[in-house]
Amino acid sequence: MWKVKFFLIILLCFVNCIRADDDGEICDHDQGFNCTDGSTIDCLDVCNGIKDCKDGSDEFLWNDITESPCRNQECPNDHVKCNYGACIPIEYHCDNYFNCADKSDEWKYYCNKHKENPEEFKSCESGDFIPKNEFCNGKIDCPRDGSDEWPNLCKLLPCPSNTHFRCKSGGCIPLTKKCNNIKDCHDNSDEKTCGNVIKNPVSTTPNQGCLVRRDRNYYIKNELENYNIIPGGRVPVNTRIIIKCSNNFFFPENNTEQRRICERNGRWDSPLPQCIKYCDARILNNSKSTTAQCSLRGSKVDCNKIVPRTVAKVSCADGYKMPEELGDSASYEMTCERDGKWSKRKDNCEPICGRYASDNASVAPWHVGVKTYLNQRCGGTIVSPSIVITALHCVQFEDDTALSVDKVVVIIDGNSVNVSDIFGGGDIDVALLKLSEILTLSKSIRPICITESVYIASSTKAFLHGWPKDTKKITEVFHKTELDVLPRRNCSAKLNGRYICVRPAYKLHRNETLCEGDSGSGITAESDGVNYIIGILSFKPARNDDCTNEPIVAVRFNQIPELQKTMISSDKEPLYEMENM
Ligand SMILES: *[C@@H]1O[C@H](CO)[C@@H](O)[C@H](O)[C@H]1NC(C)=O
Ligand SMILES: *[C@@H]1O[C@H](CO)[C@@H](O)[C@H](O)[C@H]1NC(C)=O
Ligand SMILES: *[C@@H]1O[C@H](CO)[C@@H](O)[C@H](O)[C@H]1NC(C)=O
Ligand SMILES: *[C@@H]1O[C@H](CO)[C@@H](O)[C@H](O)[C@H]1NC(C)=O
Ligand SMILES: *[C@@H]1O[C@H](CO)[C@@H](O)[C@H](O)[C@H]1NC(C)=O
Ligand SMILES: *[C@@H]1O[C@H](CO)[C@@H](O)[C@H](O)[C@H]1NC(C)=O
Ligand SMILES: *[C@@H]1O[C@H](CO)[C@@H](O)[C@H](O)[C@H]1NC(C)=O
Repeated sequence: MWKVKFFLIILLCFVNCIRADDDGEICDHDQGFNCTDGSTIDCLDVCNGIKDCKDGSDEFLWNDITESPCRNQECPNDHVKCNYGACIPIEYHCDNYFNCADKSDEWKYYCNKHKENPEEFKSCESGDFIPKNEFCNGKIDCPRDGSDEWPNLCKLLPCPSNTHFRCKSGGCIPLTKKCNNIKDCHDNSDEKTCGNVIKNPVSTTPNQGCLVRRDRNYYIKNELENYNIIPGGRVPVNTRIIIKCSNNFFFPENNTEQRRICERNGRWDSPLPQCIKYCDARILNNSKSTTAQCSLRGSKVDCNKIVPRTVAKVSCADGYKMPEELGDSASYEMTCERDGKWSKRKDNCEPICGRYASDNASVAPWHVGVKTYLNQRCGGTIVSPSIVITALHCVQFEDDTALSVDKVVVIIDGNSVNVSDIFGGGDIDVALLKLSEILTLSKSIRPICITESVYIASSTKAFLHGWPKDTKKITEVFHKTELDVLPRRNCSAKLNGRYICVRPAYKLHRNETLCEGDSGSGITAESDGVNYIIGILSFKPARNDDCTNEPIVAVRFNQIPELQKTMISSDKEPLYEMENM
């Protein structure tokens, strides 16, 4: 039972050795005790657990337990200390009667013992147990009554002022938590006096204090005094600062503020941080025509988050080539600069047109199938990233004069692609199909080339890719037919210059034919290994035959309406506008 432990050491002492401190007794037995209100009481009534002075000053003044003559009193070994310092006989402790003037002899904090961990847990007045170290830590932890932060308890616990701050309510917090913009004392007293500290003037003497580097993207504040520091000067030793980045700038760690302390040697406790701006990463990934690889100081990095000094190496995707003005290098480099801007603009690559990607010429990457809801089949030709050219009669239906996009799909590399718009050629048998998506070009999907060259346009040898003759299946392999371009009169004496006349070339071993499903297919001519569109087949069988090897009319490509030509030439992948450029 002789194990009552208080936070103040109980020392052996003789009865009635009442001392204020080392330099004198608090009560002269001849004169009695002077209450602070002027009255006098008997010395035996001082620090006996009962307030005898009207103002309580013989135990503690009013409610202030720190104002007590008993604080440094030593108790005899059969007595225990009240929280404010008075001594009471040990048998009065936890006897359900109040014997201390602050009632601390009945505090559950002292009386209740935790069954498992009597040393580590202490009792709240409510009877709840909480870890001992949560008492008087500034934060209310007792769930029902907050008694762990009672000033009567906390104000008498030690709180070394060189390392700690005592909350007004008595709790004790590390000094580092004072004025950190966080309420560490539940009464917020740790954040209340921050602006009232005497302002240190900024030192003008060089080599004194710490230099605040000039950085346009900073905001710097004196932490304790809450005023702005103008970068470029020095601040005195021990100044605490808070650094924030201005709009759109960030710390690389992506926290909102950083703190520094100016140390005695005139250096910051750690180097001042840099505010950086990320470069727009989206431009690296906004075009089907390019691919990018990013590196920072020589190491490969993700292209999603671009910090300054990142270098992006932009190359063309499969099916695209560098624009002529960028020369014939395989790639170009863009560097993210300090201000978050790219060193140069991002250029898209251009589609490669008119070249077979392999020697297998059955795979014409520009040739597509055009299928209607009646399962009619035509051919078509990719002329730009989202436009296919075909014959108007392929997409015009007798029962419906309006061209309707939902009745047509385009078969590209084996896949169906929807059409979002159809632009008819008026009186000429040609139509542009605007696709519902921008095609991702590749080895097997490429546009045909377009040329103004009269020499190529008047070529007498031409080619046409069409559906296979022997199967109704949809396939990416087309049948290549060699054509002769004949004088117009071989088709009709009245045929005007907007058309050309073609016929499958005679072969010794096998005569080719053209069939109705070849309608709309492009007629192409080759020059230096590059294929150009020169016409669109307009097959309307004179008889009921499906196929023929007779001369057939085709629209001359350079005679399509100007409006359609403009649509084709302006159909480019949009160039993304870069921020701040
Ligand atoms: C108490 O008051 C009396 C008279 O006012 C004074 O003489 C005496 O010194 C005081 N005693 C103490 C301990 O201050
Ligand atoms: C930085 O953090 C904020 C909030 O946590 C987040 O919204 C933002 O996207 C982050 N920025 C970067 C570039 O990671
Ligand atoms: C590029 O963007 C697409 C979708 O917009 C996304 O799925 C892909 O992960 C991005 N790639 C990179 C390298 O950021
Ligand atoms: C061309 O490719 C197709 C399919 O890839 C194949 O069936 C055909 O035999 C090839 N033709 C030649 C001449 O290589
Ligand atoms: C194409 O259109 C059809 C019908 O209009 C629709 O069901 C389908 O989802 C569309 N396909 C794509 C890839 O948009
Ligand atoms: C074109 O028609 C003319 C007569 O109008 C004929 O002499 C010539 O052989 C025809 N050419 C071909 C290749 O059929
Ligand atoms: C191709 O057609 C021409 C003209 O009709 C004919 O003379 C020739 O015999 C045919 N060749 C074959 C292989 O059928």
